[in-house]
Amino acid sequence: MKKSIIYHSTLIAFMVALAACKTQKPSTTGSKIEQSQGVYQYRDEDPTVQPFFSDRKGVIGRNGMVASAHPEASQVGLTILKAGGNAVDAAVAVQFALAVVYPGAGNIGGGGFMVYRDRAGSAYTLDYREKAPGQATQNMYLDSLGNVRQGLSISGHLASGVPGSVDGMVEAHKRFGKLAWAEVLQPAVDLAAKGFALTERDALGLNRIKTDLTTINPGKAYFLKSTSPTDTTTWKKGDLLVQADLAKTLQRIQAQGRAGFYEGETARLLAEEMKRGKGLISAEDLKNYHSVWRQPLQANYKSYNVITMPPTSSGGVALIQLMRFTEPYPLRKWGWNRDSTVQVMIEAERRVYADRAKFLGDPDFVKVPVDTLINPNYLRTRWTDFSFAKATDSRAVKGGTIPGYESLETTHFSVVDKEGNAVSITTTLNGGYGSRVVVGGAGFFLNNEMDDFSIKPGVPNMFGLIGNQANAIAPNKRMLSSMTPTILEKDGKLFMVVGTPGGSTIITSVYQTILNVIEHGMSMQEAVNALKFHHQWLPDKTIFENGAFSEPTIQALQSRGYILEKLTNTLGRMDCVLVRPDGSYEGASDPRADNTARGY
Ligand code: GLY
Repeated sequence: MKKSIIYHSTLIAFMVALAACKTQKPSTTGSKIEQSQGVYQYRDEDPTVQPFFSDRKGVIGRNGMVASAHPEASQVGLTILKAGGNAVDAAVAVQFALAVVYPGAGNIGGGGFMVYRDRAGSAYTLDYREKAPGQATQNMYLDSLGNVRQGLSISGHLASGVPGSVDGMVEAHKRFGKLAWAEVLQPAVDLAAKGFALTERDALGLNRIKTDLTTINPGKAYFLKSTSPTDTTTWKKGDLLVQADLAKTLQRIQAQGRAGFYEGETARLLAEEMKRGKGLISAEDLKNYHSVWRQPLQANYKSYNVITMPPTSSGGVALIQLMRFTEPYPLRKWGWNRDSTVQVMIEAERRVYADRAKFLGDPDFVKVPVDTLINPNYLRTRWTDFSFAKATDSRAVKGGTIPGYESLETTHFSVVDKEGNAVSITTTLNGGYGSRVVVGGAGFFLNNEMDDFSIKPGVPNMFGLIGNQANAIAPNKRMLSSMTPTILEKDGKLFMVVGTPGGSTIITSVYQTILNVIEHGMSMQEAVNALKFHHQWLPDKTIFENGAFSEPTIQALQSRGYILEKLTNTLGRMDCVLVRPDGSYEGASDPRADNTARGY
């Protein structure tokens, strides 16, 4: 029996209610993309605008698939699968490999969430999110007048929560791994000790943070091409990055498991680093850190079952709310990103993010009304002011009533093995390279996850998200997350493994990618390639990748009061796997960065 609650929507009642509250018929102004010989194209208008970021094709395999942010890490996962490891073995190996080859977000100094579905259909979720240190206080980032002391939750020693990634991987492997722990860790140890060749993006990333590396870590040489103040040489593609101290840290974890990080030499180095920079994480905090197996959040959408992350993530609740708001509408008939399709999705996003700010927080500290938030009767009350005639005003939305930018520097990976066990993991340091503090002697970045708390009610965090008492800082509490690692079943069988980084945009990118496949008939890779948009209640505007909306769609939405902002950068770094009708796997990795799928 599945260890989870499955929420069934009373869809017909919801649809009747929705029909009653529509004040104007939808229009479908704008271009429609259609599949023509396997390629989606706008049907009309503006042939210069393309709805896809690239024409990358998915990777097909029958025996296993790994999609992650870095080619070296995906290769590690594939090697473990080919050596007889299962999806959890491969996922653990990928998490540690990313900590070496993708230091901007891959980590042992951060945290994450795992959604796991085994081949028999049982589902599990593991919360290895960071925690506030024991000495943290609600107003620790405020001055005596109650004003926010800018930047303290973002960079430097005070920004870090107690890391959870190593404990999470130990727990996952202990419960589900097949290969020996030491074998699964070995590829990461090798990559750190022998080095790996930087991609162009790796090199640019390290060059970009050079000033922070030297000012936040005086006297340390980590991640610098040269420590000489007069040497201006920078990293370039193909340079070998060797991380000797990180290799030793990984060897301690390899030899001692949890104790190799939370006790002994690594813990000592981390606590010393905190003392040096006046941070709060103590040896006691490290010893007391434990990840938590939580009951997966599951809900039906048409013939699909969505298995996703419950709080401490806001992502799962939000995703289910979004899908339930959308479910009654004929998106497929209206077409991909036509005005009515987009309007329903934006209005759903507006209401969902307002709820997020009001109700979501660490369930070990606050009561999160999950059942109510995803209940169709509740969602109906949130939709009564929806109109196709004009945009709802975010100031009027607020959170519901119950009788409760951009950093892409989180990372997601998806793994499926030949037996059909599937892992969906999103893991993070929060901002790129976290707090930018590198633990002296241990060689890894610490997170700046404390910024994901609401450091003051109504004050936006680095993603522009605002929060409330539910997500206020308290000792040993987990900060709210948007990470949305998700697995979908179709007719009871594994169908899709999906997730992305992107801070507050994670939820909406996952939502769109799922709908692109199940409503708009795209392949997994097309769904990833497709251009995306995002609304998060406040600020009251919709950001979109250039080309996501055709000109007629833009005009139709603007005429109804929607504020649209074309991005110069991109949304999402999806790494997903789809099970195709013939049982083979399609690995899809995001062409927006170095993401790579490997399968066999
Ligand atoms: N640090 C990004 C998130 O957890 O949502």
